[in-house]
Amino acid sequence: MRVKKLSFVTLDLLKSKSVIIEPEKITLDPSKVTHLEVGSGKGHFITSLAKDNPEQVFIAFELNMSVLYRIVEKKEMLGLTNLIIILGDAKNLDQYFEKDMIDYIYLNFSDPWPKKKHHKRRLTYETFLKLYQNILKPSGILQFRTDVYPFFMDSVDYVEPYFHIFETTTDLPPSLYMTEYEEKKRLHTKINQLKGRLKND
Ligand SMILES: C[S@@+](CC[C@H](N)C(=O)[O-])C[C@H]1O[C@@H](n2cnc3c(N)ncnc32)[C@H](O)[C@@H]1O
Repeated sequence: MRVKKLSFVTLDLLKSKSVIIEPEKITLDPSKVTHLEVGSGKGHFITSLAKDNPEQVFIAFELNMSVLYRIVEKKEMLGLTNLIIILGDAKNLDQYFEKDMIDYIYLNFSDPWPKKKHHKRRLTYETFLKLYQNILKPSGILQFRTDVYPFFMDSVDYVEPYFHIFETTTDLPPSLYMTEYEEKKRLHTKINQLKGRLKND
């Protein structure tokens, strides 16, 4: 994804907008259904879900400051009080979340890292799945969407040992909840999706 750097976006600005900019343990209400999107990009997916489900909690987790600022803008425009925005790297997820805190994790159009020597960087790779396994509640759900078929098939293999995969499709129909990337990509190609429930054994 080409990213335009926004020079006015500083850590101080993000902090003033209540973005969490350094690792800290997040306090969540365990009685509320909690959703986490890792690599949220500009945030259309997670902000749309948050708008339509005000009684639930949504967390956008994104590495890039300029991209993340677009989530901040949407949060303000929609007046969302149920959306937490975190600037951070997924490899440090355990520094933000205790065990068993999250009901749903979404990975939307994560970078495919096609070269074999870079596969370990994929957000569906084993090392990341172990982090998700730890922070998901028992029977928590992982949903992964991509337009890159080889990445999808590799991810099915990565995910299987950790999650009961209960849904796969290689031609996902459009929905109310799509990312900026999906809206562009589905004009030219089919969209793949898998859903898995955490294995508790
Ligand atoms: C291809 S873009 C997709 C963005 C968005 N999910 C969408 O579908 O429009 C991948 C996003 O993941 C973010 N990302 C990549 N690695 C990450 C990591 N380790 N932790 C958090 N975010 C990450 C990138 O900054 C980028 O915004």
